[in-house]
Amino acid sequence: MRWLIAFSLLFTVVTVQADGGPHPDTPGKAAIASAHPLATAAGFEILDQGGNAFDAAIAVAAALAVVEPYSSGMGGGGFWLLHRHKDGFETMVDAREKAPGAASATMYQDKDGKVVRDRAINGPLAAGIPGQAAAFDYMARHYGKLPLKTSLAPAIRLAEQGFEVEDHYRTLTGYRVDVLNRYPAAARVFLDHGKVPDAGYRVRQPDLAKVLQAIADKGRAGFYQGPVASKLVKGVRAAGGIWTLQDLNNYQVKERKPIVGHFRGGRVVSAAPPSSGGIVMLEALNILSQFNGGEISEDLLPHLTVEAMRRAYQDRARYLGDPDFVDMPVDKLLSDSYAKQRAASIDLDHATPSSDLGKPITVQEGHHTTHFSVLDQDGNVVSTTMSVNLPFGSGFMPAGTGVILNDEMDDFSSKPGSPNAYGLVGSHANAIAPGKRPLSSMSPTFVDFGDRLAILGTPGGSRIISMVMLGVMEAANGKPVDDWVSRVRFHNQYLPDEVQAEPAFMDTAAAKSLRLRGDKVVSVGRRYGNMQAILWDRKHHAVTAASDPRGIGHATVRAVQPR
Ligand code: GLY
Repeated sequence: MRWLIAFSLLFTVVTVQADGGPHPDTPGKAAIASAHPLATAAGFEILDQGGNAFDAAIAVAAALAVVEPYSSGMGGGGFWLLHRHKDGFETMVDAREKAPGAASATMYQDKDGKVVRDRAINGPLAAGIPGQAAAFDYMARHYGKLPLKTSLAPAIRLAEQGFEVEDHYRTLTGYRVDVLNRYPAAARVFLDHGKVPDAGYRVRQPDLAKVLQAIADKGRAGFYQGPVASKLVKGVRAAGGIWTLQDLNNYQVKERKPIVGHFRGGRVVSAAPPSSGGIVMLEALNILSQFNGGEISEDLLPHLTVEAMRRAYQDRARYLGDPDFVDMPVDKLLSDSYAKQRAASIDLDHATPSSDLGKPITVQEGHHTTHFSVLDQDGNVVSTTMSVNLPFGSGFMPAGTGVILNDEMDDFSSKPGSPNAYGLVGSHANAIAPGKRPLSSMSPTFVDFGDRLAILGTPGGSRIISMVMLGVMEAANGKPVDDWVSRVRFHNQYLPDEVQAEPAFMDTAAAKSLRLRGDKVVSVGRRYGNMQAILWDRKHHAVTAASDPRGIGHATVRAVQPR
């Protein structure tokens, strides 16, 4: 942090920075970037009623549960990275799903020890105990200013009145129409007579509205106890799942100390385990920093970025899991000496085959999730990534709840040490155990460069981490926020041993330079990610925000209504 002195001047706190100029200490405007315009509007509705960023975050998350049901929801979980302006306090609220008490390491294997993929991703057995309602309750009680009755009101209204289907909804529903059709309660809500609804069709969710109302009235007890809990458990068990009332009642969020590191003068704050995001991104950035402090020529940058990713993702697979269950060498992974050692194994002229780096272990992850970023006019910050895992999670909805359950259990390694359906294997650190949280890649992040604050994150399974890393590198280069969200993306996750890239990357000079060094560069066939980002430029007293052009999201920056 390069701030030297903070003092009051005519009721405005200003900060003097190392570059000499005085900077107002609060943005004066608010910004929200989310994956759906109705969710961004819900957040502003709450700011306009006197809520802070934390209240607005609850409103955005709840609205996304309604209008983006394929990405996140009351049947899922997430990580909420917070910065409170008045005292600089920062924390991560871990609302990741937990394995039910009856879960076991081999629960997705058949009698011959073969992993049954369908069980791990579809239906109630695939669902962890959700954390979302507990997050709302916790956020409101510890950080917000408004009651849940107020912050959940926009989402309840959206669930009752419905929202219109558009092309994005149709695409995501198309991926999961067969699974949704297995479960009548889900099919009734999200399909039109068993088919993907036409654009303009209205999705109404009266049962979900009632669940949200129960949380608004009773806090966490409205979801984890009483009639809602009974319906959830009854529905799950009737369809072959293993949840109990005790599992729900026992669920608690946990505050975790965020992962903090530095890159090119910026203080990077990101998600802690059970997310792998902060550790993997910072290990990779630390490796890059070994080369001229991270200021790398255009020709070498793609190669070094890929090699840094390759090494950091290898360590993800080797070491990371739920910190309540496994000891992880976090200090070592984030140390400068370790980054030096990892960087020393990089050949500037040749790609390192992943197999040369040691044991081939990695994990498989889902592809649908959501992120939003909030900055309020007082400088409070929220960066939240949430998920139900695959589109529409497990596809299962217990009757009478309107809650689509996650399939986050698939983020565990279903069979540690052996290849899964995709030829990948996972480590023991991420094996299934009762009450354990599956390893995640969700990487809500902010970076404080002193004169600029960047807030960013994205969905995208295991590619989340590399996308956020590329976004941080754009921010470090002083690029505008639109560039962070729209840049062409490439990715290496150690295994498979290839650079996965968007089609637009394939003919670039960067792709050529990777191929020349021996990398296999493959197009993933479509654009990926849905980054939501905010930049507070303290030096120029400007706030800008952007929503990824790949999605249908919306970013708004404006003054809030006078209170
Ligand atoms: N299910 C996506 C993640 O947690 O990384």
